[in-house]
Amino acid sequence: MFKKEFQKSFNNKMVYLDSGATSMKLDLVVESEIEFLTKFNTNTHNEVSESSSKINELIENLRVKVKEFLNTKEGNVAFVSGTTYASNQLAFGLIEEINAKHEVVVTAVEHSSNLLPWIEISNKTGAKLNYFDLNNDGTIDIKSINKVVNKNTKIVSFAHISNTLGYENDVKKIVEEIKKINENTLIFIDCAQSISHEKINVFEWGVDAITFSTHKMYGPFGLGILWAKDTILNRLKPLVLGGGNIVSVERNSFQLSDGPHKLEAGTMNLSSIYAFDKLLDWYQKTDINNIKSYELKLKKYFVSEFNKLNDDEIIIYNLDNNQSSILFNIKGVSSQDFAIFLEKKYQIITRAGQHCAQLTKELTNSKTTVRATLSIVNTKADIDKLIEAFKDKDKWSEYII
Ligand SMILES: Cc1ncc(COP(=O)(O)O)c(C=O)c1O
Repeated sequence: MFKKEFQKSFNNKMVYLDSGATSMKLDLVVESEIEFLTKFNTNTHNEVSESSSKINELIENLRVKVKEFLNTKEGNVAFVSGTTYASNQLAFGLIEEINAKHEVVVTAVEHSSNLLPWIEISNKTGAKLNYFDLNNDGTIDIKSINKVVNKNTKIVSFAHISNTLGYENDVKKIVEEIKKINENTLIFIDCAQSISHEKINVFEWGVDAITFSTHKMYGPFGLGILWAKDTILNRLKPLVLGGGNIVSVERNSFQLSDGPHKLEAGTMNLSSIYAFDKLLDWYQKTDINNIKSYELKLKKYFVSEFNKLNDDEIIIYNLDNNQSSILFNIKGVSSQDFAIFLEKKYQIITRAGQHCAQLTKELTNSKTTVRATLSIVNTKADIDKLIEAFKDKDKWSEYII
């Protein structure tokens, strides 16, 4: 149903099950990037150039469009290089406000990009770093939030959907619980793994900032979104200084611009921004609920075919989630070896290792795993191929040098 919209970046023989790392790019995204590079290829802030003014206007309109996509009228949107940059910007942008009396709370299944900055902040400021208790599926245990959130909690940051086990946190409920304990706690949500699968309702969630990358939503590389309430944006110190984020400069001082511009020093990734604008039109037309229900059908088909195998040598850690991630191991086989076998014999692209979320091992009891992620570029035929490979799993060693 969707695959025909990915002809340009897709090798049809390949079974692409690595959308969690980066998605295939929609044809319209590839075409839009080319269109920008061949028709405009201009930089911003050139008041005498018509095409420069056009891209300036597009960027300002796009901030509003992103907010509509996220279902909020509040706050503003900064265009940065990715989720990693955005998480670092949130953490280090507030470092001067954080001290040893404060506490920060995260989960042990965060992607490194939403964990390392907070470990560093805690080491540098003396703030205590707490970890939520998790349910067996890796989601936050809502009943025990009061064990880690208290009057000193300055910041809570966690992923909407984890990039390993893939279960979904009930953000709205978690926020309600946190606010009951401490209404001043700032709450940041990493939406890198949910943005292409779920409707995000920032207004309903009542959070303070969210982050995501466009390359994981069938869009361009090198572009990330940091949405934040104005109260946060006004407080954030930019990670990077330079052209575009200042109002005036003296020999020994400068005045930063307001709002999101101050976080966007240097030349922005304009061809990606241009393509992202078109991508949001596609999401509007396609309706994310259709994406979700297509993926859910695929997942259900996988589960039913997998159960027919009745093979206890294949351990799947998250079979019962309603999401696209399938995290597994074959007993006695290294995850890397099995992923090589899948690619060499079946042209199935998965990912093996720790998936930049090393503490997930606390839940899986396995240091490394294979991750297959389903998305709208997949069909039932791809799942049949994975099942065929599972049936053939004993041949893995023939493909390892
Ligand atoms: C949950 C999560 N957060 C953050 C990131 C980092 O995204 P990026 O590499 O685009 O900055 C990823 C990437 O896999 C992720 O899955």
